[in-house]
Amino acid sequence: MSRSIPHLKSQFLQRLSEIVGEPGLVSDAQQKDDHDTDWLKKWHGRSCAVVRPASTQEVAQVMRLCHETRIPVVTQGGNTGMSGGATPDESGAQLILSTSRLRGIREVDPLNNTITAEAGVLLAHVQEAAQEVNRYFPLSLGSEGSCTIGGNLATNAGGVAVLRYGNTRDLALGLEVVLPDGRIWNGLRALRKDNTGYALRDLFIGSEGTLGVVTAAVLKLFPRPVARVAAWVGCDSMENLLALLALSRDTCGDRLVAFEMLTQASVDLIMQHITDARRPLANAHKFHALVELADTHENGLAEMLEGTLEQAMAAGYVEDAAVGLNIAQRQAFWKIREGISQAQVRAGKAIKHDIALPISKLPRFVADADAAVKKVKPDACIINFGHMGDGNLHFNVLMPLDTPPTEMSQTVKLLNRVVHDLVHQVNGSISAEHGVGQLRRDELRNYKSAVELDLMMQLKQSLDPNQIMNPGKLL
Ligand code: FAD
Ligand code: MLT
Ligand code: ZN
Repeated sequence: MSRSIPHLKSQFLQRLSEIVGEPGLVSDAQQKDDHDTDWLKKWHGRSCAVVRPASTQEVAQVMRLCHETRIPVVTQGGNTGMSGGATPDESGAQLILSTSRLRGIREVDPLNNTITAEAGVLLAHVQEAAQEVNRYFPLSLGSEGSCTIGGNLATNAGGVAVLRYGNTRDLALGLEVVLPDGRIWNGLRALRKDNTGYALRDLFIGSEGTLGVVTAAVLKLFPRPVARVAAWVGCDSMENLLALLALSRDTCGDRLVAFEMLTQASVDLIMQHITDARRPLANAHKFHALVELADTHENGLAEMLEGTLEQAMAAGYVEDAAVGLNIAQRQAFWKIREGISQAQVRAGKAIKHDIALPISKLPRFVADADAAVKKVKPDACIINFGHMGDGNLHFNVLMPLDTPPTEMSQTVKLLNRVVHDLVHQVNGSISAEHGVGQLRRDELRNYKSAVELDLMMQLKQSLDPNQIMNPGKLL
């Protein structure tokens, strides 16, 4: 006689608890619910359990069990992702593997400029650990107090300093990964040169939990910038903003660490919904930029920024600017910029487009996309902002909070087509930094070539033949 499903489930849970012990299984219903839902409250799943292994060995044992029983695994870090990648489906069959107990910093080596951190370490804690040895870890996101290094690697997160330091991929030297069958790949090499074959590390970075569980990483550290200045700038066109970006690169070189763009509508939205956010400029401007310079010594940084802005004003690129010389002024600028995610959540339902384009093509794209969106939806509230310095825009359309689900999904389809087709025409990307998850899975098929999709499927099949790693995501 075959055994019943509830019996098999309780047997599976029993074996899980033998591996991780009582603290390693989430038993509180509210806590489990928090893991089953994403932070945007957009995706609601139902897992069979949430397991919290405390070491790489425990992760490996959990994966061996899942391999044997064919239980699908959704790895979850800080659950701050934007694409629903860390939320299980509603079947009640998928296991959430939370990295929240993998919180060790294994090594900090200031002479090699590296830090080795476990996957569940919060990004903010890696930054702090670097600072303790007078070094700098440059990855910086609005979610840095909640997202994890494992999640950053799995999504290849971008953030506000990509134009200077690159994406998470550029900041990783080595990885430790537990494979779908429970084997551990120790690729924790702290090397800047290593040509011993295929770049396995880069397969797992950006794979969104579909190929294995990242359990630790060796990350690059940099000299710590002690001097910082920032400016809030108002411009009348994207062309002029682009000219300011080019000029700033010329005059400031690598000291230019952030160049963030917001439209007037984005700034207005933040002012309405974020307490304590203050307008840095007296008048309205079609486009705003937050420009930041940083250096390892004070010498002339403020003068460099002021000189650049004077030149830009003389050339007619800039309408107005406010320079933030002290920490409080700079923090006030960043409060505005970082308030945009929360402002959108409070104001409505955002139809997000996280797109990357060649920087030179941004002005034309924004004009075309504005017009195309307005053509199909004349009352569209376009909230366009992003990391202009690296070519990544968040070209979002905000819908009222009470928009019925059917109208919402029809509008999503319509606007995705309009915006993503334009992105595709200039060989851009429909997911610059937030990943594919479940949000962009269908869209990916519209824009990737058959050859590229086939290569991706073959890789997935060879690493995860039983398809137990995050099914329903990415591919
Ligand atoms: P999760 O959300 O838990 O997981 C994300 C994906 O990674 C899932 O597919 C999951 O299965 C997988 N995963 C997680 N951990 C592992 C692991 N150890 N091994 C294998 N797979 C794993 N993102 C940006 O890129 N740039 C931004 O500027 C930015 N700003 C943000 C601002 C706010 C306010 C918020 C809330 C989010 C922002 N994000 C941004 C999105 C998000 O914070 C990042 O995607 C982050 O990297 C996710 O990390 P996490 O630990 O929360 O991962
Ligand atoms: C940001 O850059 O602030 C986030 O990646 C975008 C968002 O909240 O949509
Ligand atoms: Zn972003």
